[in-house]
Amino acid sequence: MSQKDIPVAKAKGRPMLTWVGKKPLARVTAFPAQHIETVPAPAGDVPLAAVDWSDWPRDVPQGGLLYHGDNKEVLAHLLANGFRGKVKLIYIDPPFDSGADYVRKVQLRGPKGGTKVEGEDYTLGEQVQYSDIWANDNYLQFMYERLLIAKELLADGGLFVLHCDPARGHYLKCVMDEVFGSEAFVNQVVWKRSDAHSDVGQGAKHFGTVHDMIFFYAQGGAYTWNTQFTPLPTSTVEQWYRNVEEGTERRYNKADVTGPGGAVKGNPVYEWKGITRAWRYSKERMAELDKQGLLVYTASGMPYQKRYLDESKGVPLQDWWDDIQMVRGIQRRGESHYPTEKPGELLARVIKVATNPGDLVLDCFIGSGTTAAVAQKLGRRWIGCDINKGAIQTTAKRLQGVIAEQQKSALTGRQGDLMADENAPLLPCQLAFTTWRVNDYDLQIQHNEAVELACEHLGITRRHTDPFFGGIRGQMLVKIVPFNHPLTPLDLEALRTELKTRPEEERDILVVSLGIEHAARDWLTHYNQNRPINKIHLVELRSDRKSGGFIKHEPLSAQIDIRREGEKLIVEITDVVSPSILQRLNKEGGVFRAEIADWRAVVDCVLIDTDHDGAVFKVALADVPERKQDFVSGRYDLPASQPGATVAVKIIDMLGEEFVSTAVFGAEVQP
Ligand SMILES: C[S@@+](CC[C@H](N)C(=O)[O-])C[C@H]1O[C@@H](n2cnc3c(N)ncnc32)[C@H](O)[C@@H]1O
Repeated sequence: MSQKDIPVAKAKGRPMLTWVGKKPLARVTAFPAQHIETVPAPAGDVPLAAVDWSDWPRDVPQGGLLYHGDNKEVLAHLLANGFRGKVKLIYIDPPFDSGADYVRKVQLRGPKGGTKVEGEDYTLGEQVQYSDIWANDNYLQFMYERLLIAKELLADGGLFVLHCDPARGHYLKCVMDEVFGSEAFVNQVVWKRSDAHSDVGQGAKHFGTVHDMIFFYAQGGAYTWNTQFTPLPTSTVEQWYRNVEEGTERRYNKADVTGPGGAVKGNPVYEWKGITRAWRYSKERMAELDKQGLLVYTASGMPYQKRYLDESKGVPLQDWWDDIQMVRGIQRRGESHYPTEKPGELLARVIKVATNPGDLVLDCFIGSGTTAAVAQKLGRRWIGCDINKGAIQTTAKRLQGVIAEQQKSALTGRQGDLMADENAPLLPCQLAFTTWRVNDYDLQIQHNEAVELACEHLGITRRHTDPFFGGIRGQMLVKIVPFNHPLTPLDLEALRTELKTRPEEERDILVVSLGIEHAARDWLTHYNQNRPINKIHLVELRSDRKSGGFIKHEPLSAQIDIRREGEKLIVEITDVVSPSILQRLNKEGGVFRAEIADWRAVVDCVLIDTDHDGAVFKVALADVPERKQDFVSGRYDLPASQPGATVAVKIIDMLGEEFVSTAVFGAEVQP
């Protein structure tokens, strides 16, 4: 399929927040997706929920969908490929524009102390997961575009849920009012993440920030809303359920049985055991309640209905959530070392409110995969997307774990950690998923390293004192555009705005980027015409042979033996070398040289496709040790493939880098 131009509807309403470079999005380009991997359902009979897949696009495999790419392009791809109006819930937790570089701690595998890195027991490497340093205007335009496309994917009766913090929440609410219409607003939930925040050390002049905001917007009036309940507070129990039933010890409260509003509201009037009133129930129903022992009488003979505590659903959920703790690293299950992982309980709540089993849930900032993992557990269909390869791999691995757990539960008849309501065990909709890549913008090298290398190579002196221009080269000020996206007209517009605030500045500007959008080239040509000062020069590293030639990367390598023994296929890995990990460890170790005693320490997981078609990796065996202290096995015995089949082995290291080796499986049988 070639790329297509897809129309996007205009924003609905008011108020309209404005920002530098605001522009509506009338059309987007939809790129085809490249199928990367199929993770098939595990073997064994696992009952599935009866889901109506008739709304599913015919060309898309049924099952979970995980996309690697910029969500603007992924959402456009989904719009162009049959998902317009099909998604029941969109939950997003976008980067907060917090000015911080989020890092994922990468540990080597193995028992603590078992992996010898000289000078350090267990050296950590850091991988930048994503960088969210954006100027406000860029950030708002970024969000505006994504919201406009996401809205098109939302079903009539669907909910859009945005998770953010107070730094941007007020702006984003205005943007959502404009995109969805202010009448679409349903709730602003305050999620109290923790009791105290360390941002209020001594001398701080602000309150500790302990809450996030979660906005709910509905598409159309008749949206799905399954009220959730929280347990009654102890004070309510003590105050309202004071009575204890003799014999059963059940606590109950006494509910009024007179008819609200009296006879004028149509409540039946009759005499009950000497008292005449307008009652809530008919005389027959009262008699039935009495017979069941559900009426109690005061000394004066007034009847009340028993309402048992153990039958109470609790309190309907309010917009103040202080009963879910944030994910705190290693103590918690589902821990992914992902810096901004949200608790599964939070997502379970959102998904249960907004969808029914079988509905489709989308998260295009999937991070560690919480939304997809919980949707899978709750018998919903799901689509996830992230720009970061580490996030995609983390999510894929997590989903494999959830599916394996569902299979185990089905086989043992136990529910496991499925978060289902006790009385209504949920069956999965699917046990397979596929991964895709849209408009590959995979950098191969990590962002920070790339910036450092670029500066070194281009002779740029870094200047950390200037918040906008990151360096100088000769007579020129240097602007390094974050390498996670190509240079866009918006980046250039921000540069022009910055220059306006510096009327004395006469120097030319050097912009360094990794890639450039076509429109940005036109913008530059136009801008530079007849300009005596502040000319903008560009070094675009991807296509600039002279300046970009330094982008070299020593890839992951491995020694693998793939052979046949009788009826078995044997895959044996004997060595894996990751120059990037060694380089990182050496950098951190200073004068010490890193030495990795066991190659398995650098390997995160091993995947094997026993019948590789050359295009899509179908996982027949996944060795993904659950705990960080465990190693992959390194030797695998599988049933023999058909003669002539290609066996592919994929090794992913602790920085998310991949190595793939293939071998054609011979017909000869070795003794
Ligand atoms: C706050 S995290 C989401 C965390 C997630 N809710 C969880 O529980 O793990 C935001 C994610 O958005 C991703 N992201 C940022 N910009 C993106 C873009 N343009 N397209 C797709 N993903 C993006 C980042 O890589 C990051 O993983």
